[in-house]
This record gives sequence, C-alpha cells and structure tokens, in this order.
Amino acid sequence: MTEAVHTPRVFSGIQPTGNLTLGNYLGAVKRFVEMQNSGIETIYCMVDLHAITTWQDPGALRHATRELAAGFIASGLDPKKSILFNQSQVSAHAELGWVFNCVARMGWLNRMTQFKDKAGKNREAASVGLFAYPNLMAADILVYHATHVPVGEDQKQHLELTRDIAEKFNHDYKVDWFPITEPVIEGAATRVMSLRDGTKKMSKSDPSDMSRINLTDDADTIAKKIRKAKTDPEPLPDSLEGLDDRPEARNLINIYAGLSGETPKQVIRDHAGQQFGQFKPDLADLAVATLAPISTEMDRLMTDPAEIDRLLGDGANRAAAIATPILEHTFEIMGMVRSREV
Ligand code: TYM
Repeated sequence: MTEAVHTPRVFSGIQPTGNLTLGNYLGAVKRFVEMQNSGIETIYCMVDLHAITTWQDPGALRHATRELAAGFIASGLDPKKSILFNQSQVSAHAELGWVFNCVARMGWLNRMTQFKDKAGKNREAASVGLFAYPNLMAADILVYHATHVPVGEDQKQHLELTRDIAEKFNHDYKVDWFPITEPVIEGAATRVMSLRDGTKKMSKSDPSDMSRINLTDDADTIAKKIRKAKTDPEPLPDSLEGLDDRPEARNLINIYAGLSGETPKQVIRDHAGQQFGQFKPDLADLAVATLAPISTEMDRLMTDPAEIDRLLGDGANRAAAIATPILEHTFEIMGMVRSREV
C-alpha cells in the first residue's frame, strides 16, 4: 500500500474561450486571489485543451489564452506567488486524462448535465472530447494531487466525478494515491445569472452581450448593461426571504454582495425599500469601481504578448516539475514499464 501525504494545494482552471465574464470573476478568479493570498500553494490554469472540445479558431484561441492570462494577473494573481500556465504546455494533463478515460465509466459521464446542455439535441455531432472532458478535468486536478478546487456552482458535478475517479483508481490498484478533492464553492456569487433572465446562468456563450458583463467592457458599457438589466417593479425587500420568486432581484443583490465582499443579508439591510432606479446606479458605480482598473490593466498587459508568453512558459515549467513525478508514479502503480533515460 502506497501511503500518500496530501499537503494542501489549490488547483483551478478557466477555459480561454471568449471574454472573462463577471460570473467567472466573482465565481472563480476573485476566489483564486483570496486563496493565493492565504498562503496555500496555488496553481491556476488556462485550459486550452478543454477549449478545443468545440472548434476554436487558432488565432482567436491564442488571443483568448493571452487575454485570460492578462485577466488573471490584472485581477491580482501574482505569477511569483501562484503558478500560472496554459494546460497544453504540460503534457501530463493529457496523459493522465487518458488513464482516467479508462477509469471512469460511461454511465458516470452519461449523467453529466453540462454535456447534455452543451451537446444539445444533436449528441451524435458532439466531439468525443466534449463527452470525455470531465475526465481531463479530473486529471488537471489530480496530476497535482490538488486538495482544494475553487469553482462556481456549475462545476460541482464535475468535481464529484473527480472524487469518484480518485476513489476508483485507489480502490482498483489498492493504493492511497490520489487525494479526495474538496470543492470550494463559497461566497455570495457562486452562480451569477444572466442580466436578461434571472433563471439562466451568466455565460460567455450567451448570444446576447447584454446578458453579461465582460471584464473587457468599458465603464459606460458596464453602467448601461446594469441599467438595462431585467428587474421587476417591486422595491427591494427587507429580508432574504423577500427575494424568493424574484430571481432577477436576487441576482443583482448577489452581484452587489460578490463585488462589495458583504453578505447578501447586509446588502438587503442597507438597500431595503429602494426602487431599482436607485439601486442600479449604486450597483453600476460599484461594478465600475471594481472592474475598470482590471480592464485597464489587462489592456496594458496585452501590449506585451511576448512577456505574457514568457510568464506562461515559466509557469508551465514549474507546473511540470510537480506533475511529472506524480504521473510517473501513477504509471508505475499501473504496471507501465518506464525505462527511458530522461
Ligand atoms: P469555465 O471556463 O466554464 O468557467 C470558469 C470558472 O468560472 C465559474 N463560472 C461561474 N461562476 C459563477 N457564476 C457564473 N455565471 C459562472 N460562469 C462560470 C465556473 O464555475 C468555473 O469555476 N471545466 C471548467 C474548467 C476546468 C477546471 C479544471 C476547473 C478545467 N479543468 C480543473 C477546476 C479544476 C470550465 O469549463 O469552467
């Protein structure tokens, strides 16, 4: 029996497709920064291999990867404190992903709601990669023996699958090798909803740009999107229960809380009885004050793509130094002959 000691280590990833949204920022990136600054080892990845589960224009993918890196850094991730890199530069992810294709069961993946949503009605035309994607996600995490994974609510099922894969591997090979990872889904904004429909997730793939706030939006655009956000005619209630059946109102309160760092309860207390005509400008001011400096810094960083590439290469070397021995030992456990001189 191999006894593994699992020291705390954080891993998370974001797909470099399109813009970073306020949902990504509040649900993920802001939490990444908090965890980085809490002193735990943190590894954050631009998951380009996940992005290609649906076709990506090569130039757009390259740009989006750099822009995501710029977004990470502009939001407060420090390439000296955290390991920041793009997934395809560390081949251990894809290799362990294959191993997990052989560990996970078809039935497990058939239950993934995100595949059903993304593949839509035409499942026959979806790529095999889109179906197997949660196995690669499990590999991303477990190739670092990561113990904590900060994500938004929509990734919960994939993290449960990651735990199932780790348990099955450990069980099948009679080892205590992969950690059973803890999802970290915390805070007021774990599920930021569309500004046009409070029952739909804010998403970079929504055809309406008015449904989301992008980190690259300028101050006027942010203010306009919030002003035009769908709401109901009632004033804000004085308790959280008063938000039941008011998804749009709840969403704006949660966004306010996510941005300000307060709890939704505090936000409700401070704004009870206000009409949206009063609340929305306050929210717009808060959003602009938080996001405008990030977007300005992103623009500055994007003027030097070579420096971004250098940082990602450096991050990838540091990531590979952790992942390669874990992958090697995994192969040894499984009985692969590993005799190359490296
Ligand atoms: P992705 O790229 O769709 O989203 C990145 C992160 O943003 C969160 N998020 C949201 N949070 C709150 N409200 C929203 N509206 C919202 N939209 C997105 C997501 O929950 C996620 O945390 N499969 C992942 C990427 C991934 C990954 C990993 C994550 C690949 N490997 C390993 C963690 C660990 C994805 O597609 O996220």
